[in-house]
Amino acid sequence: MLDVIRETAAFIRAEVGEMPEIGIILGTGLGDLVNHMEIRKELDYKVIPNFPVSTVEGHSGKLIFGELGGKYVMAMQGRFHYYEGYDMKQVTFPVRVMKELGVETLFVSNAAGGMNKEFKVGDVMIITDHINLFPENPLRGKNYNELGPRFPAMTEAYSDEMIRKADEIGEKNNLRLMHGVYVGTPGPTFETPAEYEYFRIIGGDAVGMSTVPEVIVANHAGMKVFGVSVITDLGGKDIKEVPSHEEVQKAAVTAQPVMTTLIKELLASL
Ligand code: HPA
Repeated sequence: MLDVIRETAAFIRAEVGEMPEIGIILGTGLGDLVNHMEIRKELDYKVIPNFPVSTVEGHSGKLIFGELGGKYVMAMQGRFHYYEGYDMKQVTFPVRVMKELGVETLFVSNAAGGMNKEFKVGDVMIITDHINLFPENPLRGKNYNELGPRFPAMTEAYSDEMIRKADEIGEKNNLRLMHGVYVGTPGPTFETPAEYEYFRIIGGDAVGMSTVPEVIVANHAGMKVFGVSVITDLGGKDIKEVPSHEEVQKAAVTAQPVMTTLIKELLASL
């Protein structure tokens, strides 16, 4: 595993040169941030050795290097979901490579279904914590001490300092920013009304099918994490509307101006 990570990192370093200390994983429909980037270099996942190739509609699959909010960043356009059939090591492989390349701060974004009754479709939720309901932990198996500890702490999985900064930015720019706990599920089914209710009862504010594996590995690797969810649909015991993939994409577009301002300003503040 270590050799594979190093091989991939060496390829990227040779292709791109200087490496950033900030990585961004762009979730469903949030690819618009790329339009605000001053791009230096792009690498198709297809050309990167050992990289899985993304398959879902709306996820194109590129590693993009460039300037955003005045900071040099590496952005993943398209991520690998467990529901696509990748195993947990594949889903989190890019995070391992980022760390090997020198990334110390990871931004993650996703689309999620809202369970908190105060949420509206199109809201942006700062992830304050998560609940892992994936059937497997990405750290299961042999631990490589070079990568991180056997039993990593998850008490501040999402950086308190970055959340505080994000709140300041929200206040200054008059952004509607919600806070909440993200429940990570394997998918690909959306939840039954009873499941949304259950996730609410156990402490969740939003539910989605990504992010948790990557955030676990980022914490294992000692990275600082900032996460945001775009609320693309609402779920609960009285809600019968079924979110379509198109509605999810549309709500993500609605949230774009807030997302863009937040991420750009947050990067600028680092
Ligand atoms: N459930 C799970 N994943 C999701 C949802 C949802 O309601 N919306 C967007 N991703």
